[in-house]
Amino acid sequence: MKTLNKTYFEDFKPELTVTSPGRINFIGEHTDYNNGFVLPTAIDKKIFFFFKKNNTSNHCNIYSKSYDAFLRIDLSNITTSDVEWENFVLGVINELQHRNAVVTGFDCIIESELPMGAGISSSAALECGIALGLNALFDLKFSLQELITLSRDAEHNFVGTKCGIMDQFAVVMSKKAHTLLIDCESLAYELIPLTMQPYKILLLNTNISHNLATSEYNKRRNECEIGLEIIKEKYPNISSLREVTQPILETVRPNLNTTLYNRCAYIVAENNRVQQAVTSLKSGDLKSLGDLMYGSHDGLRNLYDVSCAELDFLVDFSLKHEYVLGARMMGGGFGGCTINIIHGNNINSYVEKISYAYKKEFKIDLSAIEVSPSDGTSIIYH
Ligand code: GLA
Repeated sequence: MKTLNKTYFEDFKPELTVTSPGRINFIGEHTDYNNGFVLPTAIDKKIFFFFKKNNTSNHCNIYSKSYDAFLRIDLSNITTSDVEWENFVLGVINELQHRNAVVTGFDCIIESELPMGAGISSSAALECGIALGLNALFDLKFSLQELITLSRDAEHNFVGTKCGIMDQFAVVMSKKAHTLLIDCESLAYELIPLTMQPYKILLLNTNISHNLATSEYNKRRNECEIGLEIIKEKYPNISSLREVTQPILETVRPNLNTTLYNRCAYIVAENNRVQQAVTSLKSGDLKSLGDLMYGSHDGLRNLYDVSCAELDFLVDFSLKHEYVLGARMMGGGFGGCTINIIHGNNINSYVEKISYAYKKEFKIDLSAIEVSPSDGTSIIYH
């Protein structure tokens, strides 16, 4: 078989183009896999996919422009790869095949504007772009909900992160100028209009990678499950941490070690914060939203233990600037971005100041990305 190279993709005429965005999350971190509430939305930075069938029964050729890397897939033998980004693609194909979808040979060029490992879910954007793209290309007739869950399953089964549903849901279902309140138990959701002027959403990327992230992420999930089992010994009708209140938690405190208590206490408080954040947003009270974001960061740092020195530095720095209404780490943790609600007039000077301080402290360049809430994964037919 010839090696795949750029020549193969010359004069590429796509049948369809898919755009799949990254996501932010205002509040509700690590609550999704505890059947709780989250408040994310898609952003105006995306991955682009150009798809066409290639009239073979089993061969797919994929070119990632961002990595300048090629992937040749044999559809009759889908297995995991040692290369991480390949598993997002292979994992989705595997889930489609498990659901008896008839996928035949296709070619695809992928081009991304999303930094990897920044906590803005480039992985879900990739999975959902492939899933919705193949669904359209081969007229597979899966519902959006099925495509969201199979993309999540791909991450569990091929990448190994036992993630919740937030990222894939937000990437697919978001609408411009809105945020999504998702009930991760029922998957009911509400689109909440966002009016933020004169404030803006600024992401500050620590440029620290997530090496620890997958193992620690699965560990947190496991700790929540153990905590829940202990709570259930006294309250057998409780089926997830979402149903636990602080008074209930206090009654079982003697049975939980400090780590398990802290994990559960964080989740209980974070679910409450999401509900309060919705009230704040609906009444246009961004100051209260900001305070809740600081509360969230505090819990993630001290109780859930998924922050790191770089993220804490950025959040602490923001506290000294009143034109930043709120800041917190975003996503799984251990690096990635902080999300900041900042007055539009102060962005440039603030980025300059905080980049300088960050570099001085950690000898690492900070990257700043201004984002706005945008539509979810979209398909353009040619
Ligand atoms: C990652 C996971 C999500 C969610 C967040 C933390 O982004 O993919 O499911 O758990 O971490 O809120």
